[in-house]
Amino acid sequence: MLGKIEHIGIAVKDLKAANAVYETLLGVTPYKEEKVASEGVITSFFKTGDSKVELLMATDPNSPIAQFIEKRGEGLHHLAFSVTDIDKEVQRLVAAGFQVLNEQPKLGADSKRIVFLHPKSAHGVLVELCEDI
Ligand code: CO
Repeated sequence: MLGKIEHIGIAVKDLKAANAVYETLLGVTPYKEEKVASEGVITSFFKTGDSKVELLMATDPNSPIAQFIEKRGEGLHHLAFSVTDIDKEVQRLVAAGFQVLNEQPKLGADSKRIVFLHPKSAHGVLVELCEDI
């Protein structure tokens, strides 16, 4: 079973400009900015109520975020669900026929172990599972 929507990921071209817009929209400043070198992104996180918004900007043209923006433009990139046991959930979902992008959880932003499910498996939505470390 998955838990709450932990955050929503939004791909942006210019993190500084996007931060300013989301600061105004949400009425809070980002609580964290973090580079994830392995993914070629820099992210910023906003708390909104019980959930979060993650803005992602590519730091290198080969990063998945750069490719996403090139293909589809800025916008909603992924939906992240919180899980308490990521290995168990991955096993369950693989057994149910979901296509997993990385079966071995990797270290994500904001101190999480994360796994992505292919958008084809979820009607066009890239799904992230994340477990607190
Ligand atoms: Co995310």
